[in-house]
Amino acid sequence: MAKDYSKLEKEDLLKVIEKIESRKKYGLIWDEEKTREKFEKESENALPVLKEIKGKEIKTEPVKPTNILIEGDNYHALSVLNYTHQGKVDVIYIDPPYNTGNKSWKYNNRYVEKDDAFKHSKFLSFMDKRIRLSKNLLSDNGIIVCAIDDYECQNVRHLFDDIFGEDNRLGTITVVHNPGGRQDDKYFATAHEYMLVYAKNKDLAKVGHLEISDKKLSEYKFEDKFGRYKLREFRRSGANSRPQDRPNLWYPIYIHPKTLDIQIGKKSGYVELLPIDPKRIKRVWRWNAKTLMDDEEKYIEVKKDGKNFTLYVKERLDDNKGQKPKTFWNESYYSSAVGTAELKNILGNHFKGEKIFDFPKSKFLVRDILEIISTPDSTILDFFAGSGTTGQAVLELNQNKKGNRNFILCTNNEGGICEEVCYPRVRSVIKGYTTPNDVKIGGLGGNLKYFKTAFIKTTISRDDMKIRITRECTEMLCLRESIFEEKKNKSDYRIFEQNGHIMAVYYALEREGLAELKKDLDKMNGDKILYCFTLDPLGLDKEDFEEWNNVSLEPIPQKILDIYEQIYEY
Ligand SMILES: C[S@@+](CC[C@H](N)C(=O)[O-])C[C@H]1O[C@@H](n2cnc3c(N)ncnc32)[C@H](O)[C@@H]1O
Repeated sequence: MAKDYSKLEKEDLLKVIEKIESRKKYGLIWDEEKTREKFEKESENALPVLKEIKGKEIKTEPVKPTNILIEGDNYHALSVLNYTHQGKVDVIYIDPPYNTGNKSWKYNNRYVEKDDAFKHSKFLSFMDKRIRLSKNLLSDNGIIVCAIDDYECQNVRHLFDDIFGEDNRLGTITVVHNPGGRQDDKYFATAHEYMLVYAKNKDLAKVGHLEISDKKLSEYKFEDKFGRYKLREFRRSGANSRPQDRPNLWYPIYIHPKTLDIQIGKKSGYVELLPIDPKRIKRVWRWNAKTLMDDEEKYIEVKKDGKNFTLYVKERLDDNKGQKPKTFWNESYYSSAVGTAELKNILGNHFKGEKIFDFPKSKFLVRDILEIISTPDSTILDFFAGSGTTGQAVLELNQNKKGNRNFILCTNNEGGICEEVCYPRVRSVIKGYTTPNDVKIGGLGGNLKYFKTAFIKTTISRDDMKIRITRECTEMLCLRESIFEEKKNKSDYRIFEQNGHIMAVYYALEREGLAELKKDLDKMNGDKILYCFTLDPLGLDKEDFEEWNNVSLEPIPQKILDIYEQIYEY
């Protein structure tokens, strides 16, 4: 029964309050007040929009999807994407700064040092806002992957549990990114980091498995009526392979010298075989005697060489094919060194002798995780894109596994990372490049548009702000509709078209120009959408659009402002 506090004396009430206050809370708390994020002057009291940098557009195959690179703080980029891409992103891969205190991450324009008492609070404030904004972008079956290492792993996992729900955690993958171990660590040489994988809704999310590489495939040299296989000795070797380790796996097997029939238990005319290795060391078999006898010639093969017999297990391709991806990834090509070498290969000619970037991921690692969680038409977002590994991984995945995945990359331009590394890297992968060793690598083809975040001051009158936003939001609308080719540019309106889809934007408060716009649209074939300016928060006046039957209508900018209102106070 609930306690009746109204009858308690003040002193008793104070005791109750003290008890409640001292109770340990489960979950994450951090000092939000002391770690408030301050943005640059230009983005203070301002709302973000995107501006295209036209000279940086790359277009080699107009029928392929348009990929996007956004230069700017990802908080602003994610705000814009909350209007353009809500529910439209299938996969998010991020590799945020790890907050190691080694000049790896700036918060409020200052490096966060190792001994900063608020370092974890700062990191959590920073990540919390961004992860929440990005969750709105995920489609219902969307999946997010976050790379992280030991410094912040427990905090980030709690944060993701909070935001996505513990039930939607699909896995925590350990990745061996530094097989030799970090030798300057004091006690243990760190050799691994993590990928946290969460679904927006685990019942709708699909996780596939990796296709076996051609190199691995070629190891399955043999074939029988069950399919392809490779051979492994039935006698164990290495750790835990001695009879004292596994007594039940030490037993004699009897083999018929002609028919190669196998039996357990002595039989006349059969040869006894024990698991003793060439150095005469006693080992054990891989399976116990019962499992061996249950095999119906699917997995065990006996080979005879003169008077010697060897037993093998057939490792079947089909068994490996359907296997779920494991939570431990240790292929040598997942190491950070492979990421660094790849970047040098692509951009080494521009950065002769200089260090290009400290933290590129291996493209194979990003490619493999994306292969498992994306479909051939996925939209993939990386809002800590750094050197652009995710862009390259998506382009290569489309090439190798056939697909039309498209990417949205966002990174700030710290140390020129966006303009001087990420952009040239993606351009090189699309168009081709020459390595420092003079090897020519062909381009994969593709399209890219480069945007920068820009700002509209909120200190002007509300109506003026609406007019400014409408004028300045055209690129955002193009992005929202994926329609970029400009067909007409008049003072009151602009028309864009792409692959049979048409979008018009009407900017004027007066409606006279609508008749001319309608005439232009009537001459065009395809599905049509009109974004039309209005100051009325309730939407467009139907009377202005009689006979516009084949055009969908969207009032602007109220919907943009509604979304920004949830993100910013203005
Ligand atoms: C660990 S790196 C990512 C490396 C990337 N996965 C790669 O393979 O190149 C993190 C990147 O995020 C960028 N970054 C940090 N804070 C950011 C922010 N608030 N907005 C956008 N980018 C940011 C940094 O400049 C850095 O390049």
